[in-house]
Amino acid sequence: MNTSHRVLACWILAIAAVTSHAAEGDAEAGRRKTVTCNGCHGQASMKAVPNLGGQSATYFIAAMRAYQDGRRGHATMRDVAKAYSDKELKNFAAYYAQFAASAETPVPGNETPAGARACETCHGVLGRVPVNPDSAVLAGQKPVYLKTALREYREGTRPHAVMREAAGDLQDAEIDALAEYFAGLPGLVVK
Ligand code: HEC
Ligand code: HEC
Repeated sequence: MNTSHRVLACWILAIAAVTSHAAEGDAEAGRRKTVTCNGCHGQASMKAVPNLGGQSATYFIAAMRAYQDGRRGHATMRDVAKAYSDKELKNFAAYYAQFAASAETPVPGNETPAGARACETCHGVLGRVPVNPDSAVLAGQKPVYLKTALREYREGTRPHAVMREAAGDLQDAEIDALAEYFAGLPGLVVK
């Protein structure tokens, strides 16, 4: 095995390890506890509250852990996330991941802004099925939420080295165009 094969093999093993989150969770147990979440996440009209239906299980768990340990500073979500064990987070993740859009869902004519292809190297073609499950599904997310998240990565108030790098040089107009583009693609649903 040469070095690049070894690197590839490690990467595949790492992906296999992270994608097993969804398999570990009990989706029905997760669903039963979503009553609390639905008051915010189940509301299409709450523009700053992200859609969770179809989100990557691995990303979901990473986001909840970041609220728990304060890497993400949102006060409400910190209190929410702290109330749940790791097992409960896996159950929630398995429940929400069930709504993932099929890769075959047709895409309406939606002009691709400059820079979107670079995002798709991690977030997947059309932002729908992340290449690396650590990154998020972007398609169908609420545009206001995407804009806020991108500004926070750019400014470092939502610290994440990879996304700081990806968003660091984006101008406001570019952020707005990318957010509107990904939000306009079929993907996540209100859940
Ligand atoms: C009072 C409203 C409210 C409730 C209740 C609530 N959330 Fe949230 N949630 C939010 C808001 C607002 C955000 C965006 C925070 C930010 O900008 O970081 C969020 C973000 C999240 C995220 C990050 C999503 C992403 O794309 O990064 C996850 C995961 C999440 N919530 C899960 C849950 C779960 C599971 C529950 C129920 C146990 C829940 N939330 C209850 C308001 C709420
Ligand atoms: C090298 C891989 C990589 C590239 C390239 C990349 N991202 Fe990300 N992205 C990630 C990862 C990993 C996360 C999860 C970060 C976290 O846990 O907070 C993420 C998270 C996000 C989020 C937060 C989603 C949510 O639900 O809160 C948005 C929005 C986002 N990326 C948009 C973009 C855009 C737009 C681009 C192109 C300009 C881009 N990303 C390029 C890897 C990448």
